[in-house]
Amino acid sequence: MVKVNENYLKLPGSYLFSTIAKKVAAYQSANPDKKLIRLGIGDVTQPLAPAIIDALHKAVDEMASAETFHGYAPDLGYEFLRNAIAKNDYQDRGCQISPDEIFVSDGAKCDCANIQEIFSQDSKVAVCDPVYPVYVDTNVMAGRAGDYIEAEEKFSDIIYMPCTKETDFAPELPKETPDLIYLCFPNNPTGSIVSKEKLQEFVDYANKTGAVIIYDAAYEAYISEPDVPHSIYECEGARTCAIELHSFSKNAGFTGVRLGYTVIPKELERGGVALHGLWARRHGTKYNGAPYIIQRAGEAVYSPEGKAQLKEQVAYYMKNASVIYNGLKDAGYTVSGGVNAPYIWLKTPDQMTSWEFFDYLLEKANVVGTPGSGFGPMGEGYFRLTAFGSYENTVEAIERIKKL
Ligand code: MLT
Repeated sequence: MVKVNENYLKLPGSYLFSTIAKKVAAYQSANPDKKLIRLGIGDVTQPLAPAIIDALHKAVDEMASAETFHGYAPDLGYEFLRNAIAKNDYQDRGCQISPDEIFVSDGAKCDCANIQEIFSQDSKVAVCDPVYPVYVDTNVMAGRAGDYIEAEEKFSDIIYMPCTKETDFAPELPKETPDLIYLCFPNNPTGSIVSKEKLQEFVDYANKTGAVIIYDAAYEAYISEPDVPHSIYECEGARTCAIELHSFSKNAGFTGVRLGYTVIPKELERGGVALHGLWARRHGTKYNGAPYIIQRAGEAVYSPEGKAQLKEQVAYYMKNASVIYNGLKDAGYTVSGGVNAPYIWLKTPDQMTSWEFFDYLLEKANVVGTPGSGFGPMGEGYFRLTAFGSYENTVEAIERIKKL
């Protein structure tokens, strides 16, 4: 009889956002008259920008005629999109990334989940604590995380890099040497950033030890302060130790459209093997490319109109971030994030656990957030709110919280 992949059985509970969705659905069905405001999952609410809608319509029309119809997309993405990404996200910022180092995909979540496949089973993984759960869960599924230690809410073989208020929610270099280091900045869930100097430390460390950094830059568009790196390739030596992941979900509202990309520089190799070639092989075998229509929409993100419209969209969400940040601060909460990221990280009041505060907020204010402990043990006693709601709902949510 076939056996299941027992690694899946090591995962505690369900995926964080599925657990929250179930709890919220149960509450709403028991209280149908309550108007819930959802500031939990980082899902966007503003419509796609007009430049993107135009590009989608045009591409749909092309699919209606044999002369302009497109079938399978090239494995690694259409050149028009890879050229636009290389120029706008890298070369214009002084980072030497070429179009053929970019792999277009249907989103950063899949890429950050799948990238671990090209590394050996015994690779030691380091993550920030708290952390976006996908990095850990996928390494658990792959059998790389060891056993779950319930009392500590940790996996025995994962190296956790604590991110605390003492370190401004940035990680220190791990004490034990890892093979893979996952970093996400601006950070999900804490909304913190790392300076270029700090990121350079990680790059130097990875080059010295032979580790590879998987750098998730999904929230890069939200950086508002100078001297915050937009890409790990701004650091010297990153081409020989870092893979970077990007999403179109947060900068362009593609959560329901699906588009992302991964960068693997050609000279990044381990054990004499180029990682670029391995990921290209994986893409070729397991993936048939993001749809033409969606890649044209992605290209529009980089058009002059697209850039201007998306700048406004990001500013809209960041206005929400400041409503949340300042409103909570006025109400006496300890808050961080929200300046270079669409997430606000707050200390729960009155020693409440993260899940106690979740229930309290849901029941007393009908506001949905995300418990910090869902992101790792160091998240206990913290809570995350997202700026991706509508402005009106965000203002109302904060008014309700202030009245508690
Ligand atoms: C989050 O809320 O952390 C994100 O929306 C999750 C994601 O991007 O997959």
